Amino acid sequence: MAGEDIDVLVIGGGAAGLMCALTAGARGRRVRVIEHANRCGKKILMSGGGRCNFTNTGTTPANFLSANPHFCKSALARYRPDDFIAMVDAHRIGWHEKELGQLFCDESSKRIVAMLLEENRRAGVRIHTATAVAGIDALPGGGFRVHSEPSHAGGSRGEGIAATFDAAALVVATGGLSIPSLGATGFGYELARRFGHTLVPTRAGLVPLTLSGKHQEHYADLAGVAVHVSARCGKARFDNAMLVTHRGLSGPAILQISNYWEPGRELWLDLLPELDAEAWLLHRQQEHPDALLQTALADVFPKRFAQRLCDQWFGNRPLRQYTHRQLPEIAAKLAHWPITASGTEGYRTAEVTLGGVDTREISSSTMASKKQPGLYFVGEVLDVTGWLGGYNFQWAWASGRAAGEAV
Ligand code: FDA
Repeated sequence: MAGEDIDVLVIGGGAAGLMCALTAGARGRRVRVIEHANRCGKKILMSGGGRCNFTNTGTTPANFLSANPHFCKSALARYRPDDFIAMVDAHRIGWHEKELGQLFCDESSKRIVAMLLEENRRAGVRIHTATAVAGIDALPGGGFRVHSEPSHAGGSRGEGIAATFDAAALVVATGGLSIPSLGATGFGYELARRFGHTLVPTRAGLVPLTLSGKHQEHYADLAGVAVHVSARCGKARFDNAMLVTHRGLSGPAILQISNYWEPGRELWLDLLPELDAEAWLLHRQQEHPDALLQTALADVFPKRFAQRLCDQWFGNRPLRQYTHRQLPEIAAKLAHWPITASGTEGYRTAEVTLGGVDTREISSSTMASKKQPGLYFVGEVLDVTGWLGGYNFQWAWASGRAAGEAV
């Protein structure tokens, strides 16, 4: 039985799918979106602590990880942070810069989802939530026949639709594997594989690191303590806060470096990135020879952290009792602090999924598959992953826009 004729079917009503749909709809295309959760944009709603860090004004291709680093350039150049800000402004959504070019809503992430839904409505896009894909066939003359069915995923209770669509273009916007309770699935990867695509192995990104054994014991009762550090892994380096948790380490510096870390890779912290620790310690020794090392360290670290450093590693004597060789050694250790992570907290808490559909088989200007005519991939399902700080949404908007202009 033939299906309802449409131009574009988008699978996944998240950031990239909604942007793609509204762009194609505004060009006069007949567009449908199938979203299996009970509402669209659940990750947008949760993002940025409920205020959605919707872009980063400093976005460049260097802020992304991919096996094919040049791939993201074209889409990012054609849809810039300013373009998204213009849409946000047109909807009178207040925003502010928190730090480092990161833009957040003044009120709530709900405003961003409402804006995207309103733009889709104006563009004539029809969105079917609580609806899953029951089957997809490539049609002999081109295009796809897609059967849908009511879904029970992501808070849905079977209230979606059973229908058949014949679509000239199929856009896969199903995101990555992070946070399954929000509706994340491996559907996009399976579909990609089915149409002959290669996958770059996936792993959790922007995720807390776990410690075990004696490495965990050193930090365990420091849970809640935050320290400004510089985290390094290979050539990557991020200066920001680190937070000690019950199971390991988190905070922006750790989430950022987690994108670069894999089991077996060395990870280092500079615990005093903004200070010449050696000069500072020698100066303190000269000025306050009778002060305890812990007292000096408590000026630059939280008290509990300073105490642990002394108890565990440096001793706690008056500064004059440390030789001129010992203080530089302490400074060197503070600047080159090894971390032995046992793993990550995994997809349950990860903000993103590294890896995904290999972009060498995708057109960088249109997001079209080079394997299957009419098939497109946008957003996080592709092997493009941004740093923490609004970059991942900018990629979702830019890749969604690129496909929306092409379908
Ligand atoms: P996204 O995950 O948004 O959307 C995919 C959609 O497809 C979902 O609605 C899902 O339910 C649906 N779907 C999946 N399988 C399906 C199927 N089989 N059938 C139908 N529908 C299906 N980034 C950033 O830049 N700034 C930030 O502040 C944050 N904050 C943040 C917080 C948290 C807690 C998380 C988990 C993530 C972030 N991120 C972020 C990352 C950002 O949310 C993410 O990169 C984008 O949402 C990716 O957009 P996509 O549209 O590709 O996937």
